[in-house]
Amino acid sequence: ARITLRQLLDHAAENDYGLPAYNINNMEQGLAIMEAAEAVNAPVIIQASRGARSYANDVVLARLIDALCELYPHIPVCMHQDHGNGPATCATAIQYGFTSVMMDGSLKEDGKTPADYEYNVDVTRRVTEMAHACGVSVEGELGVLGSLETGMGEAEDGHGFEGVLDHSALLTDPDQAVDFVAQTKVDALAIAMGTSHGAYKFTRKPDGDVLAMHVIEEIHRRLPDTHLVMHGSSSVPQELQDIINQYGGEMPQTWGVPVEEIQRGIKHGVRKINIDTDNRMAITGAIRKVLAEKPGEFDPRAYLKPAKEAMRKVCMQRFQEFGCEGQA
Ligand code: G3H
Ligand code: 13P
Ligand code: ZN
Repeated sequence: ARITLRQLLDHAAENDYGLPAYNINNMEQGLAIMEAAEAVNAPVIIQASRGARSYANDVVLARLIDALCELYPHIPVCMHQDHGNGPATCATAIQYGFTSVMMDGSLKEDGKTPADYEYNVDVTRRVTEMAHACGVSVEGELGVLGSLETGMGEAEDGHGFEGVLDHSALLTDPDQAVDFVAQTKVDALAIAMGTSHGAYKFTRKPDGDVLAMHVIEEIHRRLPDTHLVMHGSSSVPQELQDIINQYGGEMPQTWGVPVEEIQRGIKHGVRKINIDTDNRMAITGAIRKVLAEKPGEFDPRAYLKPAKEAMRKVCMQRFQEFGCEGQA
C-alpha cells in the first residue's frame, strides 16, 4: 500500500532504524527493490529523479509503481521525487501519484548552480504548502553536497572539512537548519555532512570519521521532529568494483561511505539514506559478467535476470544493515 514519507520516517524514528531510498529507472530495479523488501519484510522508499522520469516516461513509471504495489499489497511503499528542481517538477510528480517530493532548493532550477538561502527558503516553502495540501510529504535540502559537477568549497565556518574528503563540502549550518525548517515546514531535511554523489567519493580508504557526525548530532538535537536525509550514501563495495573491472570495466579504485558510519548516523537521527550508485554497480557488474562469459548470448533476459538478482542482494543487505527487517 502507498504511504507518505512522513508516515514511514515517523515509524523509523519511533523504532530507531533508517530506511534506504533506492532509485528506480526500470522494471528490473523495481522488482529487485520489492523482492528484497518482501524477503526481509521491510518498508520501501522508491525514488525517481527527473532523469528517471524522462527515461522511463511518467506514465510507464506511474503504472509500474501501481503494479509493484499491487504485487506486494502488504509492503508500505513511499514513491518519492528525488532532487525536484522546482514547483512544476514536484506538482507533476504528485499528479502521477508520488506520495513524497524533494524540493532541492540548494541548487537553482538548472540543478547545478548553488542557490542562495533566500531562494531555497522561498521555493521550498511554496512547494511544502502545495504538497501538504495534497497530503504529500516534502524533503528539503540545505547545504551543498560535495560533487564533481558543482565544485567544492569550504565548510561554512571557513575551515576546510578535516577528513578523507577529496573536496570539502559546504557542511550544513545548524542555526540555519533550525531557521529553514521553521520557515519551510519540511518533513525531512537533507543535510551536507561529508558525502557526495556518485562512485568517486574518497580517494583513500576511510579510517573512521568520514561523516561530520557533530553536525548530524547537533541538527538532530535541535530539530528532533525533522527527519534527516543522507544523500550520497553508497558504500561502493570493493567486490562490485572488482567484478566490473574483472569483466572488462575500467573503474579507478575508489571508496564510498562505510556502512558503519551510516549506522552511526542512524543513531543520531538519519532516517532516509539515498542509494543509487551501489545498485548501478551491481547491475553493471552482473551484465558484464554474462556478456564476457557468454559472448554468443543475445537474449536480454540472460543478463537482465542476473542484474536484477545482483541489485536485489544489495538492497536486501542494506535493509538488514539499517535495521528495517520486520518493520513493514
Ligand atoms: O542523485 C542522483 C541519483 O543518483 C539519480 O541520478 O539523475 O542520473 O537519475 P540521475
Ligand atoms: P549515491 O550516488 O551515493 O548512490 O547517492 C544517491 C543519491 O543521493 C540520490 O539522491
Ligand atoms: Zn541525492
